[in-house]
Amino acid sequence: MEVLKNIDKVQNIVSKQLRDGKTIGFVPTMGYLHEGHIRLIKEARKENDFIILSIFVNPLQFGEGEDLDTYPRDEEHDRRMAEENGVDLIFLPSKETMYPGPLSIEMAVTKRTDVLCGRSRPGHFEGVVTVLTKLFNIIRPDRVYFGMKDAQQVAVVDALIHDYNFPIKLVAVPTVREKDGLAKSSRNVNLSTDERKEAPFIQQALLTGVQLMKDGKKLPEEIMDAVRKFLESKTHGNIDYIELLSYPELESVQTINQPVILAVAVYYKKVRLIDNIVFDQNGEIIKG
Ligand code: PAF
Repeated sequence: MEVLKNIDKVQNIVSKQLRDGKTIGFVPTMGYLHEGHIRLIKEARKENDFIILSIFVNPLQFGEGEDLDTYPRDEEHDRRMAEENGVDLIFLPSKETMYPGPLSIEMAVTKRTDVLCGRSRPGHFEGVVTVLTKLFNIIRPDRVYFGMKDAQQVAVVDALIHDYNFPIKLVAVPTVREKDGLAKSSRNVNLSTDERKEAPFIQQALLTGVQLMKDGKKLPEEIMDAVRKFLESKTHGNIDYIELLSYPELESVQTINQPVILAVAVYYKKVRLIDNIVFDQNGEIIKG
């Protein structure tokens, strides 16, 4: 496995792989790899000849007061995990390599972002699509892998690939969970012991919502209210949002007669957790 920090060197290797007729699977990350990432790498390994993992904590997608400075980092651990799981090349650029100066062209995301996390993180998805556009151009993957834990990111990347004609297949991989149901996240290490005990109720709240839907409730308000009550009774975290929207368009619905996402975000002291379930009009879980 090679670890490269330099864009030209990565592009040379990519060109050679493409000349040799190899397919490239790409897993973009911000590092501190956990089982969720490993699952993405494994999926990529099954479907492609050459696997590239990027590790870059992208400052552009962090807002003021967000956790850019405390975002967990462990390069040694990441290298080991990547190598053990069959990554061929890690692209590990510095901030200066990715953003040598101010950008002359900025991207604006006009749909799928004024809801869920996008609402309370202005500029976040602009940062995500900017870094991904650069990474897609450097790595030229056939397939790119994202976890459904961040379903809004998947929806925005789906739009990026479609709107800008990237010849890339987006592969959305179900959320990997701890035994007690908590969605795996690099940020979980920042939960206190008590918060960690409460956090699994987030998934249980979502499942409560899906069950109501299966029991015949079709009004989004009713389902969201029940999820809120459940969460308020089980955790001290502050609810940032509970939303039920069409998926992947992320638009409000009057009644549930198409695939929808039920998503929540909860603030704890040092960390904000998100989770979601995507299900159809019969309450069958589609992803997540
Ligand atoms: O999901 C993430 O880790 C990041 O948003 C991504 C896709 C690597 C872009 O920085």
